Amino acid sequence: MAHQRAGQHRDGQLDVQLPDYARELLERSTLIIVSNRGPVEFHQTNDGEIATKRGTGGVITAMSAAARFADAIWVACAMTPTDRVIAEEMRQRREALLTIPDLPGFRLRFVVPDTEAYRGYYNRIANPLLWFLQHYLWDTPRAPDIDHETWQAWHEGYVAVNRLFAEEVVAAAAAAPRDPIVLLQDYHLYLAPTFIRELRPDLLLHHFVHIPWPDQDYWRLLPLPMRRAICEGLLANDIVGFQTPRHARSFLNTVDANLPEAEVDYRRREVTYRGHTTRVRVYPISIDPELVRAVAESEDARRHREHLEAFRNEYTIIRVDRAEPSKNVVRGFLAYDRLLEKHPELIGRVNFLAFLVPTRMEVAEYINYLDEINAVVGRINAKYANAAEIEGIHWEPVHLFVGDDYPRALAAMKFYDVLLVNAIFDGMNLVAKEGALLNERNGVLILSEGAGAYQQLGQWALTVSPTDIEGTAEALWQGLIMPAAERAWRAEQLRRHVVEHDLRRWLVDQLHDIADLRAERAPHRLIAPS
Ligand code: G6P
Repeated sequence: MAHQRAGQHRDGQLDVQLPDYARELLERSTLIIVSNRGPVEFHQTNDGEIATKRGTGGVITAMSAAARFADAIWVACAMTPTDRVIAEEMRQRREALLTIPDLPGFRLRFVVPDTEAYRGYYNRIANPLLWFLQHYLWDTPRAPDIDHETWQAWHEGYVAVNRLFAEEVVAAAAAAPRDPIVLLQDYHLYLAPTFIRELRPDLLLHHFVHIPWPDQDYWRLLPLPMRRAICEGLLANDIVGFQTPRHARSFLNTVDANLPEAEVDYRRREVTYRGHTTRVRVYPISIDPELVRAVAESEDARRHREHLEAFRNEYTIIRVDRAEPSKNVVRGFLAYDRLLEKHPELIGRVNFLAFLVPTRMEVAEYINYLDEINAVVGRINAKYANAAEIEGIHWEPVHLFVGDDYPRALAAMKFYDVLLVNAIFDGMNLVAKEGALLNERNGVLILSEGAGAYQQLGQWALTVSPTDIEGTAEALWQGLIMPAAERAWRAEQLRRHVVEHDLRRWLVDQLHDIADLRAERAPHRLIAPS
């Protein structure tokens, strides 16, 4: 693999400064990024060509940005039929690594589970079981039912696929040109560290959990063997990272409650289990301002901006989300409905633009949720269309944009007066940060107390309890009528915070802790330059 120094200019990308210890660490290491979804998907077009599509979601955005700093091997599942064909061709040619378009320093290594195992792992255990648990989404008298099929999906899906991941990571580490550092991502891979350790006790394992870690009592809704295996898996890492101090604390409590043999040191945030010590750390994820600005200024985004002009009004509220139950989209519309009921003077003068990306359409809860969103939007539009007609105006209060179009969403962020982020629970919520960075109208952020971003940005936002429809309606009103000086001050503070706490900082803080750990365990390796 052609080595390029971290921080150097890569084609079409920007030069980034890193502290010396981070640069030194990266120069001596091969990062092995491990996540369920990879940075690109391959698809076959109608004329037989292979097209690539960038993966979506917080994990991909964050780890792809790491390509600006380092070379890496990325281990991810083959997700599409074309991914599988490519993986099979690579196997026949005995090629392990694939070049990734647009990420010059990265090479991809596929994990290829059989489709039944993948379904159990992804569609039954990771989503919805773990995702729903970690976002407190269950209606507990009715769900979850852990039946024999769930157990089967656990053993033959989740456990089996985690084992496959571990084998690929170990193979990637063996072939790595420099000292491997394994960066595992998220809830799909809680068991992989256990299996990696069995094969390579010496590897440095770092695992970042992008989503909330709920209270230990809530974890009791999962059977004890599952939650013990999850805790043990995470404790096979050297470092486990969370988005907020609250999530880190909940994890320590969960370990304490489920693994009585573990020694939990709350002050140092460390756990010692079966002779191995794991550090529990907090790294609030963020955005890469330069990359986000570059997309927002792209030709594509400019074209969208022109098109979207027609949808603006005297006041414009927007939201940008995956169409996902935890994002609380329906209650957001109910709050808007309530706003219009309480303030009929807004009729014809405000538009709500919702940019929603359909997601996990193989899972029933997600299909139903998208239906609910469509139904509530239809009802609100019908209700106020009548009211407006009486006054002789043609007006649609909600405009729904469904589809995966990042430049369009960023284009809209520039002109909102109010950005609604009312997630029930969310690991961080990067939309709040993108909006704060890009908005050009001193727009007001309405932020849920349940979003990880609340701990960083709440002081400059109007904050809401996500179930409080009346309170959210009031926040929308306050956001629309806030005096200009206060809007300007809040918007400035938000922007400043986001720029100062960017994605580079998220990565560098992790590299700092990894460098510390390396230095403690093998000080000689850091001193002698090769
Ligand atoms: C969101 C979350 C990530 C998670 C991802 C999975 O982006 O923020 O933590 O890994 O969803 O999404 P997927 O579409 O791959 O199921």
